[in-house]
Amino acid sequence: MTLAQKLELHLLLILTISSLTSLSNSATDTFVYGGCSQMKYAQGSPYEVGVDSLLTSLVNSAMYTTYNNFTIPGSSQQDTIYGLFQCRGDLSNNDCGRCVARAVSQVGTLCLDSTGGALQLEGCLVKYDKNAFLGVEDKTVVVKKCGPLISSDSDAVLGRRDAVLGYLATGDGTYKPYRVGGSGDVQAKAQCVQDLSFGECQDCLSEAVGQLKTLCGNARWGDMYLAKCYVRYSEGGDHSNGNQDHNNNDDEIEKTLAILIGLIAAVALIIIFVSFLSKACEKGKGGK
Ligand SMILES: *[C@@H]1O[C@H](CO)[C@@H](O)[C@H](O)[C@H]1NC(C)=O
Repeated sequence: MTLAQKLELHLLLILTISSLTSLSNSATDTFVYGGCSQMKYAQGSPYEVGVDSLLTSLVNSAMYTTYNNFTIPGSSQQDTIYGLFQCRGDLSNNDCGRCVARAVSQVGTLCLDSTGGALQLEGCLVKYDKNAFLGVEDKTVVVKKCGPLISSDSDAVLGRRDAVLGYLATGDGTYKPYRVGGSGDVQAKAQCVQDLSFGECQDCLSEAVGQLKTLCGNARWGDMYLAKCYVRYSEGGDHSNGNQDHNNNDDEIEKTLAILIGLIAAVALIIIFVSFLSKACEKGKGGK
């Protein structure tokens, strides 16, 4: 093998590996919502230093735990910054850390110079603000989405869905901020931000379930994100089908990537073939 051929193969390998890792993380990294407060801080102000330090704390802490809150004191009460992150209950520390790092980098871009911001990926939430929002229940609807109608035997499916959602809202009497449930092919999950008390979490989830049932009457899947809790369900398949738009985008990217890798492989093969031919020719000439 010539050096060029070796390089070609390495490139191929690296591209394939990176496309594989992006596939495995897509369900966690999918964007759900993001928003910023209208108020801006001045560049170079102490508040900016506070925001940077808060965001760094979120990323560092997410490598060790799946929820944490921070209060960064400012020079005055008005400059105090509050923030938290939370990962979906089934994520490992590694995945949680990765998700929060990604969310923080996105919120940093989205909410440049804003005094507050929030960003939810499928795997994690990050939020910071001037207002002391820690431990305060907030049932504002942030995202609501329903899938297409259930195609067959909808009464049976809806019965199972309502049972699962009811079970998630009630819980088992212990404080479980992350809850999953299933019945037949209906899967559902719910989560409260852990700064809520047991009672507030129950209240937030009941509200979310009520709104979801009303909004997504007989839809195959539905998502209801309130500011401090969410409930999602889907019939058949993975729950991350709940964000079909985004997954379609991901699929497109994956397709493009696959085509690109195919093209590079083809070019590499042609180069190898041509260099083989030219060597064979040289040998042929040498023989005469
Ligand atoms: C914030 O975090 C501290 C520990 O880091 C914890 O004791 C406290 O309960 C948390 N507060 C809220 C509102 O989650």
